[in-house]
Amino acid sequence: MKGIVFTEFLEMVEKEFGIGLLDRLIAKSNLSSGGVYTAVGTYDFFEMQNLIANLSEETGIPVQDLIYAYGRYFFQVLIRHHPNIFAMYSSAIEMLASIESHIHVQVRKLYPGAELPTFKITNKEENFLEIMYFSTRSMYMFAKALMEKTFEHYETAYKIDLELLKENGSQVKFKIYKQPHAIYS
Ligand code: HEM
Repeated sequence: MKGIVFTEFLEMVEKEFGIGLLDRLIAKSNLSSGGVYTAVGTYDFFEMQNLIANLSEETGIPVQDLIYAYGRYFFQVLIRHHPNIFAMYSSAIEMLASIESHIHVQVRKLYPGAELPTFKITNKEENFLEIMYFSTRSMYMFAKALMEKTFEHYETAYKIDLELLKENGSQVKFKIYKQPHAIYS
C-alpha cells in the first residue's frame, strides 16, 4: 500500500481524534515502519489493517465505518493531487466506468507498486452502472465512499447498492444509479 494512504490516514486520525489518540494508536499498532511513512514509499497492507483495527478498538467505531469515513476523506486528497484526472470527465457515471480502463492505469504509472482493486463493468446504461469489485484487501466500503463522493463532485443525485458475493468482501457487486434530480445545486 502506498505511503500517501498512510500519511493521509494518520492526518485524518489527528484531525478527528487528536494527537493523543494518534500517538497511542501508533504505539499500540506495533508497526514495522515505526509509523514513519513517505508519500512515495510502499508499505505492508497489514500495517493499515492493524491501524484500522486498533483505531476501532480505541474509538468503538466499527472497522467498516472507519474505512468508509476514510474513503470520503481520501477523495479530497485525490481532488487536490489530481485535478487533471477529474477534469477529463464530465459525469460521475462516465468517470466511474473509467476507473479500471483509464484512471487506475494512470495511477500505476504515477505510483509504482500501487496495489489496486480490479473493477469489471457488467452493465452500463446512461443512468446505471453495474460494477464488480475484486480485491484481496476487501476495501469495498472505501470504494463505496469514493463512488458517492464522485457523484457529489458532479453535483448529481445517486443511489448505490452493494452486495457481498464473498463473505470476506473480496468480491462485491455494486449497482450504481444516477437519480433524476440534482440535490446539491
Ligand atoms: C486505491 C488513486 C479514483 C477505488 C487507490 C490508491 C491510489 C489510488 C494511489 C492506493 C493504492 C495503494 O495504496 O497501493 C486513485 C486516483 C483516482 C482514483 C488518483 C482519481 C483521480 C478512484 C475511484 C474509485 C477508486 C473513483 C471508486 C471506486 C479505489 C479503491 C482502492 C483504491 C477501492 C483501495 C484498494 C483496494 O480496494 O484494493 N487509488 N484512485 N479509486 N482506489 Fe483509486
